[in-house]
Amino acid sequence: MTLLQIMSDKDSADVTLRTEDDAVIAAELAKRGITFERWPLLESLTGATSTDELLAEYASRIDALNADGRYKHIDVARIHPDESDPEWPAKATAARTKFLDEHRHAEDEVRFFAAGQGCFYLHLGDEVLATVCTAGDLVSVPAGTLHWFDMGTRPEFVAVRFFEEEDGWIGDFTGDKISSGFPTLDELVGA
Ligand SMILES: [Fe+2]
Repeated sequence: MTLLQIMSDKDSADVTLRTEDDAVIAAELAKRGITFERWPLLESLTGATSTDELLAEYASRIDALNADGRYKHIDVARIHPDESDPEWPAKATAARTKFLDEHRHAEDEVRFFAAGQGCFYLHLGDEVLATVCTAGDLVSVPAGTLHWFDMGTRPEFVAVRFFEEEDGWIGDFTGDKISSGFPTLDELVGA
C-alpha cells in the first residue's frame, strides 16, 4: 500500500496526516515541490522479467520523463529475499543500513518502483514526510533535499533508477541521527 505519514521533525508522535489516498499523497507532495506519479503496472512483470524487458515495457513513460535527456544512466536495482543464501541476512542488513541515515544528493533522486516497496523520509523544514512507495509509484526527491530511505528488514523491490551522473547515487550524510527517532518502514506498514 502506498502511504504518506506527515510528522513533526521534533516529535514523530505528532502526526498531522496519514493517508493512503494516491491523489492526496500526490497533492501534498506537489505542494512541497516533490514529484509523485502513479505509472500503470505490468501484469506480466515477474521476478524473472529482465532489465531490458522492463525498460522496454516502460519506454514511453521513461522517454517522457527524460524528454530533455538529463538522465544519462538509467538502470534497474533489485533485491529479493533469498532464504537459501546463508549470507542473505547480512546482505539485507548491509543494503538497508546504507541509506538509513539522513543525507542529500547533488542531483534529484528519481525512482520508479516496478515491484516491492521502500520508504522515503523527506525532511522538509519542520516536517518529516514518510512516503511508502509500492509497485507503480514514481518519486523524485529534488537535489539537496534532506532525506533517508528504509527498505525494511526484509528488503524486496525492483526499482528503475535515473541518474544524471554515474555516481549520482552517492550520499552526502549530515551526521544527524534524526532517522532513529522515526517509525521504520516495517512499523509504518504494520501500524
Ligand atoms: Fe538518497
